[in-house]
Amino acid sequence: MNEILIEKALALVKKLFEGNSDGHDFFHTERVYKTALKLAKTENADLEITALAAILHDADDRKLSPETYENKLNAGNILTELGIDSEIQTAILKIISEVSFVGTDSPVPDSIEGKCVQDADRLDAMGAIGIARAFAFGGSRGRQMYNPDIKPTLNADSRTYAKIENSTSVNHFYEKLFLLKDMMNTEAAKQIATEREQFMKEFLEEFYKEWNG
Ligand code: ADP
Ligand code: NI
Repeated sequence: MNEILIEKALALVKKLFEGNSDGHDFFHTERVYKTALKLAKTENADLEITALAAILHDADDRKLSPETYENKLNAGNILTELGIDSEIQTAILKIISEVSFVGTDSPVPDSIEGKCVQDADRLDAMGAIGIARAFAFGGSRGRQMYNPDIKPTLNADSRTYAKIENSTSVNHFYEKLFLLKDMMNTEAAKQIATEREQFMKEFLEEFYKEWNG
């Protein structure tokens, strides 16, 4: 893997995320990149494609950059600036379009590199950091932390998931986070997900205990 190229990619994407505080910041990208690389090594995947796709996976996120979401302009421009061949660019942009959780019918990436990036992104939505991100994100959208009168929408497919409104950050655990373990592609990620899910369950137990006094 060309380390200088990767450093450049990280620096370019860092500029895009400056100032974001809803849990979608550059540090999320950096963690996903590191985790994806670890998974890629275990899976014998192509390290450079995995690394670049991970680094660019949120550069055209629907929520962060709706105007470039469709054609992945930010990612494409950075790949061109880095001098990546058009064939490899196409493979990377395809991975980016397959990564996101959109509901129970979320796409499964075709390539092993895409599977590693998707697992890494989902692992970062779990565990202690996942909990922090859920509340940070919910807060940024004006969501309540918890409201026992608002019930979660369970097992939503993409059409239903996209329409969830007026939910809470605690509901997000049931609407997405507890679904992720069984959606992992790689064995290594499934193991980490099992531990992180356990931690999230313990967190909620304590949360309800304190809530109910
Ligand atoms: P990702 O970066 O994993 O693709 P998203 O763009 O879906 O994730 O969301 C960013 C973070 O915010 C994730 O940790 C996700 O679980 C969390 N999140 C997404 N939607 C909500 C929500 N409605 N309420 C609380 N947290 C959310
Ligand atoms: Ni992400």
